Amino acid sequence: MSAAREDTACGTVHLVGAGPGDPELITVRGLRLLRAADVVIHDRLVAHALLDEVGADAEVINAGKHPGHQRLTQQEINALLTGRAREGLAVVRLKGGDPFVFGRGGEEVQACVEAGVPVVVVPGISSAHAVPAAVGIPVTHRGLGRAYAVVTGQTDPQCGSSELPYASLAGLDTVIVLMGRSNLAEITARLMAAGRAGSTPASCVEMGCTPEQRSVLGTLETIAAQAAAHPLRAPVVTVIGEVVSMSAALDLAPALSAHASLPLSRSKEEGAPPHA
Ligand SMILES: C[S@@+](CC[C@H](N)C(=O)[O-])C[C@H]1O[C@@H](n2cnc3c(N)ncnc32)[C@H](O)[C@@H]1O
Repeated sequence: MSAAREDTACGTVHLVGAGPGDPELITVRGLRLLRAADVVIHDRLVAHALLDEVGADAEVINAGKHPGHQRLTQQEINALLTGRAREGLAVVRLKGGDPFVFGRGGEEVQACVEAGVPVVVVPGISSAHAVPAAVGIPVTHRGLGRAYAVVTGQTDPQCGSSELPYASLAGLDTVIVLMGRSNLAEITARLMAAGRAGSTPASCVEMGCTPEQRSVLGTLETIAAQAAAHPLRAPVVTVIGEVVSMSAALDLAPALSAHASLPLSRSKEEGAPPHA
C-alpha cells in the first residue's frame, strides 16, 4: 500500500509510456512507478510481461479489453483515473509507446486537471521512432531525411480524424504512418496523387520490437499490395522516404529486435517479483 492510501489526500495519476513491444523499453522511472502503483489501468498494446512487475495487491484494469470483450470508453477511463486517485490511491495509466503520441494522453490529463486530481506524465519511447529503428531505419539521416512527420492512418471522421494534409506530406522527406494498415492503399495513392514519386522506398513493420516482428520492404507504389499479400497484422508502422533504403545498409534488425529475457531484473531492496 502506498503512503498516499494511509491518509485521505488525493492520490496522483501517472500517465506512463510503456514503449512499444519489448517490455525493456519502458523508462526506469516508469518501471519504478509501475511497481509502486495501487492501481494500474493499461492499454491493449502494453507488453504483458510488464504486468508481472505490478505489486501482488494492486488492482489491474485492462482498458483495451474488458470482460465481455468491451473496450472501456474514454469517459469510463477518465472516471476510473480520477475516481481511484480521489480514494487516495497511486494510479498508473500505462499506455503503449508515448502517452502523447496518438495515445489520447492529452485528454486524460485534461480530465484529471478538470477534476482537480494531480497528474504527471512520464514520457515513453514511441513506436514512431523505435519500430523503424528496430529494422535499421533511422527516421532522420544526413543527406536522406532532414524532416519527418508522424501521422495517423485512421481516417474515420467518427473517430475524430480529419483529412491528412497530403500536399504538404508529399513534399516532406519522411512520412511515418501509425494506425495505417487498413487504409494503406488509400494513403499511398493520395501521396502519389499529391506528387510523391511512386519509386520512393517504403516499409511496413508489424509487431515491432517483439519476437514476432516482421517487415516488408517496397516502394510507395507497391507497399500497400505487399502488406496485404503477407498479410500483416496490427500493430504496424509504415515508413515512407529515402531513409528506408538505410535498412539494408544498416542491417540491424536481429540485434535491435532481440527480445528481453524476463522477469526484468530488480534490486535486492525491491524484493522478489510479485506474482512469483
Ligand atoms: C493508438 S496508436 C498509439 C501509439 C503509441 N502511443 C506510441 O507512441 O507508439 C497505436 C499504433 O501505434 C503503432 N504501434 C504501436 N506499437 C507498435 C509495435 N510494437 N509495432 C508496430 N506498430 C506499433 C501502430 O501503428 C498502432 O496502430
